[in-house]
Amino acid sequence: MANEIGISFLGMGNVGEKVVGTLLERAETFHKQIGASLLLRHVAVKDPTRARSVDLPEGVLTGDASEVLNDPSVDIVVELIGGDGDAGDYVRQALTAGKHVVSANKELIAKAGPELFDLARQNQAALRFEASVGGGIPVISPLLRDLPANHIVAIRAIINGTTNFILTNMAQQGDSFEEALAQAQELGYAEPDPTNDVDGHDAAFKIAIMAGLAFGVSVSPETVATEGIRSLAPQDFLYARELGYVIKLLAIAERNEAGVLVRVHPALLPESEPLARVDGVQNAAQIKGDLAGTLTFQGAGAGASPTTSAVLADVLEIARSLAAGTQPTWDPGVWRNGETLGLGALETRYYLRMTVLDQPGVLAQIAKVLGEAGVSIAAVDQREADHERGTAELALMTHRARELAVTDALSTLRSLPEVHAVDTMLRVEAAT
Ligand SMILES: NC(=O)c1ccc[n+]([C@@H]2O[C@H](COP(=O)([O-])OP(=O)(O)OC[C@H]3O[C@@H](n4cnc5c(N)ncnc54)[C@H](OP(=O)(O)O)[C@@H]3O)[C@@H](O)[C@H]2O)c1
Repeated sequence: MANEIGISFLGMGNVGEKVVGTLLERAETFHKQIGASLLLRHVAVKDPTRARSVDLPEGVLTGDASEVLNDPSVDIVVELIGGDGDAGDYVRQALTAGKHVVSANKELIAKAGPELFDLARQNQAALRFEASVGGGIPVISPLLRDLPANHIVAIRAIINGTTNFILTNMAQQGDSFEEALAQAQELGYAEPDPTNDVDGHDAAFKIAIMAGLAFGVSVSPETVATEGIRSLAPQDFLYARELGYVIKLLAIAERNEAGVLVRVHPALLPESEPLARVDGVQNAAQIKGDLAGTLTFQGAGAGASPTTSAVLADVLEIARSLAAGTQPTWDPGVWRNGETLGLGALETRYYLRMTVLDQPGVLAQIAKVLGEAGVSIAAVDQREADHERGTAELALMTHRARELAVTDALSTLRSLPEVHAVDTMLRVEAAT
């Protein structure tokens, strides 16, 4: 049993300041909850001369991470640096030294999770990472602790607040992608370099972690079929609305007899779906288990306070075990190396928008190409005609079709002189 538990931080930026500040402010409450004191030993940062908004006890702030890693009085290390460079090296060293680690680092867990879980197991250390997916929304803990009796069938999530804010603006205000992105940057919801968010990489890290937990298969983020939202245009949102859909960047992991398919892409979602009403920077994840049915978790997916909630939940859980004299256990299991399926395996309905020559017979020609590939048209909408260029815009909704058939047909369509461009191809997500 421990009366005093040593805790140190690697990184104290946006999230770290809130976590450390809360730990100091609520020390008494936490003492009552866990039955021991959490003693702040070190906060290691890159530049210890920079002013901080938290008043730290004398001698705690350091620019030398090895002070954290080599101090035997440190029981718990909280990694809030980010990325898979120094952060990864430090986490490996901490686990090797038998320290328990809490991390909010989606990139590190997505890329190196199985290796780090092995290391934690070998050294009887816990590695917890609730804040790495969904900020303050509990999604890791439910998958590991609350749903283990289920056979998880699918996860469908909106797990990037930046892109959800941009798509909501495009849908509700008719903004272009560039206008909506500029607004997100002005409000601090998007980074100056938004690549990681708008191209889907951040969501790919998060769904790779969730797929690993749900299916016990190691999913490397590079194998997640990933498409971003840059090519969407305001008229896609108008056509979608007329057809009864909204457009969302979805992260999806599903399992069938053939294997596991993990993907991130913008998709048409029926307006009646609960995820269709998750707007702005909100996040939500739907987990479908064979016993529990479909569960929806929704809330703030990022920000210092929600992320602090998740980081401290992990810290307090480890501290409670240490205070009780028991080994903190948190083992996500051994993930099999498994092949993930490619998008070619997908079968769904498709929305296609193209710019075509405005003349009789073109639609019939397009229908013929699609039909020869086994893709049939369910609905057609023609909105804009550009009389100067002699072109028209066509929006088509297909019946269920195989992705490979659709991509084959699209490459034939692109080669026709009557088809000036296939501007958008979006998959339709069926109702749950
Ligand atoms: N921001 C969010 O809303 C959010 C939500 C969920 C998860 N997360 C995750 O939380 C983690 C931290 O995010 P953040 O937004 O707090 O990042 P941040 O503001 O950039 O803070 C990073 C911190 O790491 C320190 N640092 C950088 N390199 C270091 C090194 N080599 N050694 C020691 N310290 C180093 C920095 O030191 P200086 O202060 O001296 O520069 C800074 O304190 C990331 O993994 C992120 O993905 C963030």
